[in-house]
Amino acid sequence: MSSLTAVYPGTFDPITNGHVDIIGRARRHFPHVVVALSQNPSKAPLFSKEERLAMAKEAVSGLPGVEVDAFEGLLVDYLARRGAAVLVKGLRAIGDFDYELQMAQMNHRMSGVETFFMVANPLYSFLSSSIVKEVARFGRDVEGLVPPEVARRLKERFRAE
Ligand SMILES: Nc1ncnc2c1ncn2[C@@H]1O[C@H](COP(=O)(O)OP(=O)(O)O)[C@@H](O)[C@H]1O
Ligand SMILES: [Mg+2]
Repeated sequence: MSSLTAVYPGTFDPITNGHVDIIGRARRHFPHVVVALSQNPSKAPLFSKEERLAMAKEAVSGLPGVEVDAFEGLLVDYLARRGAAVLVKGLRAIGDFDYELQMAQMNHRMSGVETFFMVANPLYSFLSSSIVKEVARFGRDVEGLVPPEVARRLKERFRAE
């Protein structure tokens, strides 16, 4: 199991500048960062897995050492397949804490995986994929909150509605 690879899991529906900020900062401490898109069956994403992958890949294309992948099933099983022992998570506010603590402790109990929490950049701590979708749905500009390709796809998606 390697601590050189840090896995940053999420739904990324879509990836935002808050996510990209965490990825860039994580990369300064881990030589290899894997952005791992989950297929959470209880969430019905706006964008397909393929669209979310494409947007995430485009967003990190300028960051060497960052890879984008998708996984199904338990996160700890994915980490084992990748030979990774470290998870990175972003914390925005107290609301993130309860669930993340529970997940981190369960993951550690199941396979000894360590979770590294990074605090959100205050510039983006109000930002979530959900709030971005809500604002974009009603035609408001999301420039500066998401990568340009994501802003373009959001416009395209909601124009069609
Ligand atoms: N604006 C942000 N700043 C920092 N971290 C964030 C931000 N938005 C989300 N995150 C973190 O990024 C990770 C993935 O988020 P998300 O795509 O919403 O997936 P999930 O379905 O696991 O909530 C989580 O650790 C989340 O706390
Ligand atoms: Mg979330």
